[in-house]
Amino acid sequence: MAKKKKAAVGSPKKVSRSLAAEKIRAAEARYLMNTYKRPPVVLTHGRGCRLYDTDGREYLDFLGGIAVNALGHAHPRLVRVIRREAARAIHFSNLYHNPFQGPLAEKLAQWSGLDRAFFTNSGTEALEGALKLARVYANKKQAVKGGTAKTRFLALENSFHGRTFGALSITYPAKYREPFQPLVPGAEFVKFNDVVDLEAKFDGTVCALVVETIQGEGGIYPVSEAFWKRARALATQHDAALIADEIQCGLGRSGRKFAYQKFGSLPDIVTVAKPLAGGLPLGAILANEQFAAAFTPGIHGTTFGGGPMICAAALEALRIIEDEKLIENVRARGAELRAGLEKLAVKFDFIREVRGEGLILGVDISIDGATFVEEGLKQGLLINCTHEHILRLLPPFVLRAQDVKEFLKRFEAVLSKAPRKESETHTPAVAAAATR
Ligand SMILES: Cc1ncc(COP(=O)(O)O)c(C=O)c1O
Repeated sequence: MAKKKKAAVGSPKKVSRSLAAEKIRAAEARYLMNTYKRPPVVLTHGRGCRLYDTDGREYLDFLGGIAVNALGHAHPRLVRVIRREAARAIHFSNLYHNPFQGPLAEKLAQWSGLDRAFFTNSGTEALEGALKLARVYANKKQAVKGGTAKTRFLALENSFHGRTFGALSITYPAKYREPFQPLVPGAEFVKFNDVVDLEAKFDGTVCALVVETIQGEGGIYPVSEAFWKRARALATQHDAALIADEIQCGLGRSGRKFAYQKFGSLPDIVTVAKPLAGGLPLGAILANEQFAAAFTPGIHGTTFGGGPMICAAALEALRIIEDEKLIENVRARGAELRAGLEKLAVKFDFIREVRGEGLILGVDISIDGATFVEEGLKQGLLINCTHEHILRLLPPFVLRAQDVKEFLKRFEAVLSKAPRKESETHTPAVAAAATR
């Protein structure tokens, strides 16, 4: 059960906390646009892998702000840098140099094997910029060489790339795209890990193929080596960009700095965001020299992206990951977690598969996952369910062995308690998963 700081039932302290939470919920219900269905919990603060609500209840955070809080909550080094820089300068403008963009770009170049960076405010903005970079590269080439227009974007079935129009156009599930049609023209989807389909759709009219190296929102599906190799070869052959979207799986979560580093060949463009600034909103487009050169002054920009305080925080976040050997920790804790989940899969026959790498793991179940998420909250666990039947685990990189043990104990209790009712809603996704 979730631990509680003792406040006697009906005590003035407890009543006033409940009233505060009630007021927050009421204000949201009255004034926010209705885009999220939230549980009643009101979170107030955190430390390490723990979060706390208005009632003082403690939760073990295995969602990590959807892969954002790599350093957990309130990491002292990150807090120190944010405090220091907030008192110096939060924002100048991208019209001027700032002390941290260059060093951060250099660090990302070292980590990724690519050459240059452009900073954004979010993942979707990084994706938009990456698509624009691939288009402008192709258009400039065509202006010199002539020939057929290279304007098509290829993406993968089951992908998720963001909510703005370009990123949405290459996001697969119809529920995200269809309400907003018409979208950006020229996007087409390739069957996941299907080399034959890729070869059939990839020709000289394609300017970019976009691939999540490990599909996150789609349910934790890693791209295969055979698919990656063929994608790399076709992109090179047709002078198109191979874009790796590592917004969810990148910057250490897979147990490598970038998930594509297991393949032995590089993409041309990479998008990153979520954990980059330890929770502050920052994304980046990374590109090799060949593609990066297609952006020239004035052609692309952003007001907020890459301000001094946020870049200082990101630089510190990456240094913490290096200094505290957190990628090694991701591999070690990930292996323990996976082993524990595999044991649970033997005990609970509704667990069909445990997938993923490092600390991006999916528990694929044959029954509705929403009740497990709800039961998790009751048991003091924050987890997520995607596609109705994949329980997604994205804990902070600072996870300790004792956190893994505690999680597995509570998760087992969650799995034991939830009703085992067959879900009607996930049948198509189940069929799709069987083909992977
Ligand atoms: C792989 C991937 N790409 C892009 C995005 C969009 O990022 P953001 O929500 O920061 O716009 C997400 C968000 O979940 C993601 O997982």
